[in-house]
Amino acid sequence: MTTALDQDAVVRYEPRGAARQLFKSRDSELVIAGPAGTGKSLGALFRMHLTALHNPNIRCLIVRKTAVSLTSTTLVTFDKKVAADALARGIVRWFGGSAREAAGYRYSNGSVIVVGGMDKPEKIMSAEYDLVFADEATELTIDDWEAIATRLRNGMLSWQQQIAACNPGGPKHWLKQRCDQGEARMLVSRHRDNPAYVNSDGTFTAKGADYFKKLDKLTGVRRLRLRDGIWAAAEGQIYEGWDDALHLVDPFKIPDSWVRWWTVDFGYTNPFVLQCWAEDGDGRLYLYREIYRTKRLVEDHARDILRLVRRCTDCCKSKAGGHDCHTCEQCVLEWSEPRPRAVICDHDAEDRATLERHLKMSTQAAKKSVSDGIQAVQSRLKPAGDGRPRLFVVRGALVERDTALEEASLPLCATDEIGGYVWAVKPGNAGGLKEEPVKKDDHAMDALRYMCAERDLKGRPQVRFLG
Ligand SMILES: Nc1ncnc2c1ncn2[C@@H]1O[C@H](COP(=O)(O)OP(=O)(O)O)[C@@H](O)[C@H]1O
Ligand SMILES: [Mg+2]
Repeated sequence: MTTALDQDAVVRYEPRGAARQLFKSRDSELVIAGPAGTGKSLGALFRMHLTALHNPNIRCLIVRKTAVSLTSTTLVTFDKKVAADALARGIVRWFGGSAREAAGYRYSNGSVIVVGGMDKPEKIMSAEYDLVFADEATELTIDDWEAIATRLRNGMLSWQQQIAACNPGGPKHWLKQRCDQGEARMLVSRHRDNPAYVNSDGTFTAKGADYFKKLDKLTGVRRLRLRDGIWAAAEGQIYEGWDDALHLVDPFKIPDSWVRWWTVDFGYTNPFVLQCWAEDGDGRLYLYREIYRTKRLVEDHARDILRLVRRCTDCCKSKAGGHDCHTCEQCVLEWSEPRPRAVICDHDAEDRATLERHLKMSTQAAKKSVSDGIQAVQSRLKPAGDGRPRLFVVRGALVERDTALEEASLPLCATDEIGGYVWAVKPGNAGGLKEEPVKKDDHAMDALRYMCAERDLKGRPQVRFLG
């Protein structure tokens, strides 16, 4: 597709397969789904950009579950690969947002593309739109999706459309069900749709060959979803009770009275994981912050976490270039949240010593037994009498995405690991005596288990009710 527009902006993009169908469709709800790297995001972004260029005064929205993830992924593609030329020529300008208005792209013909996350819905959801694109839409809840639908009534385009792009999730995911029930139309995107990776004769480009090598390394349910494009659930999933709708909660102000705990699973080539937990008065646990990163030293992780929990309360006000309150001898730092009652660690003696030295805090060894630890997590995931489980993950807990892991389509945090954490079926054991987990993509799972083991397995007085 080559379109000459006002001021000679030329856009070159060749949509194939599902991306091509996307351009022709007028369905009010559209889901473009398929494995990683088939061109779903690029296709949907071009759809938005070209529609905004060709239709004056329309209002569009690009949305993701969290604003941070949108900026670090989808919008990078938009700036570099979709709107680069139009931005350079001033046909499109970036507007950073104000107290009242959401950030977005403003077109010289009066059209706008607003951007934002459903974690901060106030500004984006108070307006009306003609066209909405939700990237990685499996992260959204059905309530998010339905709320977006109510905003589609701007009426400047003759058709209104809500587009979702995603990799497949579980077979029962609400987005899949919506398509199965005919409420939304699914366009199935495949690697052959992406000319950057697959030539028109079906052979791989050099870039494609490199990319598929990474996908070929995936195992289990991630391989089925991200490489093969199947809406699959893991076989032998250990935390079958996990349910996004039940266990994922939106961020909230955690009372200072709630006890804090930190758990740590060391790693360098494999991710290092540090999880910050808050425990409410009824003993429910909330994972509210997570560091999950490869190739960073323990001492650097220690510095990172201290930066997150301390702030400068009496600044020396030095004007020196590179002045940093966190390393300055004169500045007075104070904790901005309660200190953890314990820092519960994996057993590596050297890493523990390094962490203690740099945190200036003591640590304790985790209770590492696997089988009862897993049972403790499982029982916390079950809804209690009041319908609520006893373990939650706060959305957006991840501090920073590890780009190397992201490029390899590997898990980036606990909630990425949990669905693919599975029992190893031992050879010669057809009945599948499941005794231990597959030791892969289990780093956050270990830290999470240490937390539950600390609270539930530590020889606390057992009360038995005899009935
Ligand atoms: N039609 C196309 N023409 C050129 N490059 C493409 C095309 N479709 C996808 N790509 C490139 O392939 C890579 C993966 O595309 P992306 O849209 O991010 O995939 P997905 O969202 O399906 O994971 C990106 O670098 C993108 O620019
Ligand atoms: Mg994408």
